[in-house]
Amino acid sequence: MIYFDNAATSWPKPPEVKEAMVRFMDEIGANPGRSGHLLSIEAARIIYEAREALSTLFNVKDPSRIVFTLNATESINLALKGMLRPGDHIVTSSMEHNSVMRPLRHLEKKGIALSVVPCFQDGTLDPKELEKQVQPATKMIILNHASNVTGTLLPIREVGRIARERHLLFLVDAAQTAGAYPIDVEKDGVDLLAFTGHKSLYGPQGTGGLVIGENVNIQDLTPLKHGGTGSRSEFEEQPDFLPDRFESGTPNAVGIAGLLAGARFVLKQGVESIRRHESQLIEKLIEGFKDIPQITLYGPEETKDRIATLSFNIQNLSPSEVASLLEEEFGILCRPGLHCAPSAHKTIGTFPKGTVRFSLSTFTSDGEVKQSIEAVRHLLHQKD
Ligand code: ALA
Repeated sequence: MIYFDNAATSWPKPPEVKEAMVRFMDEIGANPGRSGHLLSIEAARIIYEAREALSTLFNVKDPSRIVFTLNATESINLALKGMLRPGDHIVTSSMEHNSVMRPLRHLEKKGIALSVVPCFQDGTLDPKELEKQVQPATKMIILNHASNVTGTLLPIREVGRIARERHLLFLVDAAQTAGAYPIDVEKDGVDLLAFTGHKSLYGPQGTGGLVIGENVNIQDLTPLKHGGTGSRSEFEEQPDFLPDRFESGTPNAVGIAGLLAGARFVLKQGVESIRRHESQLIEKLIEGFKDIPQITLYGPEETKDRIATLSFNIQNLSPSEVASLLEEEFGILCRPGLHCAPSAHKTIGTFPKGTVRFSLSTFTSDGEVKQSIEAVRHLLHQKD
């Protein structure tokens, strides 16, 4: 079996992720920061170490500025719904996932104005076009770092500069890049970074977080949830300090133990080295497909402009037919269709059928890439 669905969730995970989760269940198991006993302190320590590891990865100076959530979607919802008020304006791109588009469409109905900057057909964005959309009421820019459909990287550093110059908040959806592409919130000018734990950070599903930058006044960010935090228990009001203001209820501590192991794995490998490996493989995949006339490839040709996610279509076959044949006949698991990103598919001209998507990981081998190119060639022969 070849697993090419890492953009949906990475698999396999490094063995130490499972080991950390089993260790948590077997030896710790307590509620972090609640009870003050040995095991509760140990659980809290693991969560703190996860904040520290992620701070190192994203260059966040104060680990308490990372709040844990269930996934990137929850983080984006917290940042958008918590920060925007009626009368505000926000700018985004046409390559966004529904985790961005749906909360924005919801907020439009509540009086928040939205401008969607059209991207080019390969998913790339011209920062100057984005800047033209900035208005006096603009409060925020939100962009994905890389498209989950085409793998196209968006120019977050350039946009971060624009945001700084115009005194706007910059929210980045790093669901597809956290752990797979270097992110430095300082250098990239990112104020709010939404990430998920279960993709390129190799943690379990149900983990994610939001980095809340120094430029964000946390009193202006309304929590999505209110409730018990284990702190200031004498008050019925939500604590106003980080991270408790945004972390109510018992967290997914066993998941965060796994995420800590995943983040440490990424730090040990080095993001640059993971990126190099994945870039070499996606380049080989593109090379292998490029000269096959029945295949249409989407996204940028140059690997420097993309991550290791590739969308394609095969003449006269629907994306779901291709995916079924690849699974049944060659054991290749991938994701066909719209990938929860209709706007991105409209941008690249593949709406409503979508594409076939291959998404690789640090565990993908050269042999798997070669086999998948051969599999697609066989499939085309069978159809001739
Ligand atoms: N957003 C995830 C994907 O692209 C689930 O498949």
